[in-house]
This record gives sequence, C-alpha cells and structure tokens, in this order.
Amino acid sequence: MWGGRFAQGPSAIMREINASIPFDKALWRHDIEASKAHVAMLGAQGIVTAEDMATITEGLDKVAAEYAREGVPEDWDLEDIHMTTESRLAELIGPAAGRLHTARSRNDQVATDFRLWVRDALDQIDAGLLALQQALVMRAGEHAASIMPGFTHLQTAQPVTLGHHLMAYYEMIARDRSRFADARARMNESPLGSAALAGTGFAIDREATAQALGFDRPTRNSLDAVSDRDFALDYLMAASQCALHLSRLAEEFIIWASQPFGFVRMPDTLSTGSSIMPQKKNPDAAELVRGHAGRVIGCATALMVTMKGLPLAYSKDMQDDKPPVFEAHGLMALNIAAMTGMVADSDFKTGRMRQAAELGYATATDLADWLVREADIPFREAHHITGAAVKRAEADGVALDQLPLDVLKAIDQRIDERVYKALSVDASVASRSSYGGTAPEQVKAQVQAARKALGMD
Ligand code: ARG
Repeated sequence: MWGGRFAQGPSAIMREINASIPFDKALWRHDIEASKAHVAMLGAQGIVTAEDMATITEGLDKVAAEYAREGVPEDWDLEDIHMTTESRLAELIGPAAGRLHTARSRNDQVATDFRLWVRDALDQIDAGLLALQQALVMRAGEHAASIMPGFTHLQTAQPVTLGHHLMAYYEMIARDRSRFADARARMNESPLGSAALAGTGFAIDREATAQALGFDRPTRNSLDAVSDRDFALDYLMAASQCALHLSRLAEEFIIWASQPFGFVRMPDTLSTGSSIMPQKKNPDAAELVRGHAGRVIGCATALMVTMKGLPLAYSKDMQDDKPPVFEAHGLMALNIAAMTGMVADSDFKTGRMRQAAELGYATATDLADWLVREADIPFREAHHITGAAVKRAEADGVALDQLPLDVLKAIDQRIDERVYKALSVDASVASRSSYGGTAPEQVKAQVQAARKALGMD
C-alpha cells in the first residue's frame, strides 16, 4: 500500500507493533458502511464512473458477507481493518478496488468508523440503562412503604423506605443517561472527507456522506476532525461516572446480603457458591461490578494520557484509542445487565430491615424533635435527654418505643404518653413528607412520575 519509496519491507517487530487488525476488526461493519457511503458519493459526483461505483458496492457487500460468515482474517501485513477490506475487495473485483480510496485517507476513514461504532455503543448503553431504571422503579413502587434504616457513616441514622433508597439510584442513572445523550448529540458529525488532514481537491459532497451515515452534519475543520477523539473520551468519562454509580449500588447489595445485615437474598442466578464452605452464597457478580469500575476508570485514564501530548493532526499513538473503549464498553454492558437482574430479582427481607431500624434507634431524632415541639425544650437539651433514653434502651436491649413511660419520665418528666406516636418508625417516615423526602406518599409520587417519564404506564 505504500511500498513505492521503500527499499526494504518492515521487520517482523515493525509488523507486529503496527498491526491494529487484532482489535480494530471489530469496526468492520462500520468500515463497510462508510465505504459504501463514500463510493456512492464519488459516483454521484462523477469522480468514479457509475460502473466502477456499482462494482465496488457489490464487492463491498461480498466482503461483508464473508466477514459475517467466516470472521475477519487477521493478517498483520495488512495492518488494519481498512487495508484488510480493501485488499480483499481487490482480490474480488480487480483494479476498480483501487478507486475506492479516492479523496479519502485512512485518517478520516478511521475517525468516521470509530464514531459510528461509539454511536452504536451509546445507543446500547442507553437501552440498558433504561431497563435498569425500569427495574428500580418497579421495585421502588413495591417498597414505597417498606421501612429500613437510613445510614450516615454506615451507622443507623433515620428510618427511610426501601423505595426511597432505590429511587436515589434511579436519579443517578437518569443523570448518567443524560450525560450519554449529551455525548451522542455532540459527537454526531461526520469527519469523512477531511482526508489525511487538509481536506481534498476532489469535488466531494460531504453533506451527502454525512447524511447517508446518519450524521447531523460534516465536521467543520479537517485538522480537528482527523485528530479529535473527544467523542471516545466523552463516552469513557460518562461510562466512568456510570460505572461508579453501579459500583455503589453493587456495594449496597454486598453489604445488605451479608449475614449480620440480612436485608436481601440475592438471586441464585447472580451468585456463586464456595467449593469448600457449603453454607456460602457469594455475591460475585456484585463484587465484579464493583471491581470493573476500576477498570473502566483505567480505560478513561489511558485514553486521556494517550491524547494529551499529541500535536495536530494524526499520530500513530491514536491507534491505541480503540482497545480502552472496546474494553470499557464490554464491561459496561455486563455491569448494567448484572445490576438490572439483581434489582429485578432480589428478595428484600423487609422484616429484617424494619427490625434493624427499630433496634438501631433510628427514631432518636424524632424524640428530640418531639421534645422541642411539644415540651418547648431547646434542641441542644432535647438532644441530651434523647441520648439518655437511647442509652437506657440500649442497656435494656429494646427499641425506643418499647421503653415504659415511667422509665422515660424518670429521664425527663416533661415526656408524656403522646411521645409514643413519634417514636414508631412508621410515624417517623410518614412525618418526613417534605418534597423529595422519604414519606411513602412522596415516594409513591416520585415513582409515578418516573413511570410516566420512562413510558411504563
Ligand atoms: N490503523 C490506523 C488507526 O487505527 C488507521 C489510520 C492509519 N493512518 C496512518 N496515517 N497511518 O489509527
């Protein structure tokens, strides 16, 4: 393909270090699609004859059928998917194949193919995240009034509902989807026709190829178009943030499934056993989702560092753009599917959650608030009185609302029997009815709005 000026061919190590075909063969469908759009435009502009255009198009379809049937052959001498396809095309149709690369360079070709690939990846991620949101909303609706301890510092803080907790993840995923959508809107411009770096002297029609490939418009600067990988970075950065949300959710399941918590029984289908300890059911899928977040963030870091020192325009470093994106995308598809299954099919132990909220003195703030409201005690003093009540309940091994009235009165005589209404976990969550709060009516309203937004009703 470029042997004209060389006296000697590349060494074995040159061929090996140069070959991207082992990974960029994943681009083959997009490479063929972009080539077909290009040759159709060359034909329409009279840059190649109608006959050559038809021959090349048929040939590309044949190559595609071969790839679909037999896979893409890996010949390091052909370097990448672009040369592999062109070389096979030449074998099939002869010299006309040489006209396909008119007014094009591999630099704009690879930028175009990779954008098309990332655009498909973004669409797949969005469909996966939609399914995850639907699962979260379904379970949140079931558990709008199921009480569990809410935590700060992983210490019991105030009672919340499981539905409220799950809807917190719905919000995170909604932000992820908006970041991915943002990336998609920004990247949907066609680099094709930028050629090697400076554009071309042929009378090409960039609008036509952009349109044929579903891009909103052609890119405006040829130097930028062939050296820009922001679209891949946008994908990786949105994926990193999403991966860390999924990791946090996975971590919740891991904690909840541990025996001392016992808040959830994870689906058998997403757990593993131990070869030595028969009682074990391990949350491996969740642990791997947590672990994969590190790898996805590593992929984003890898590409940022690859790009940071490159002058315009194309440099071969940029060939290393694909492995991190492919790796991150494979991991994200697994992470999203695993967490969707976990949310949809886990068995939440609501009795155990309620008990934990009660014995964790999650309503202590409610007692303090009651003293302020009903006995006109300053909050700092109410806090102190409540602390004494918790100490006593803890010593007796009972919930706050199980302390007899005389015991409470001995702590502070201003307490009377009306306090019990404030001490139950149900009363506590029901009272937190501020917008966005954990009261079941608030959670139900949020679930309803989410169902509507997701087109579930
Ligand atoms: N294999 C290359 C890549 O993936 C294609 C572009 C090569 N361009 C060049 N001028 N060597 O980036």
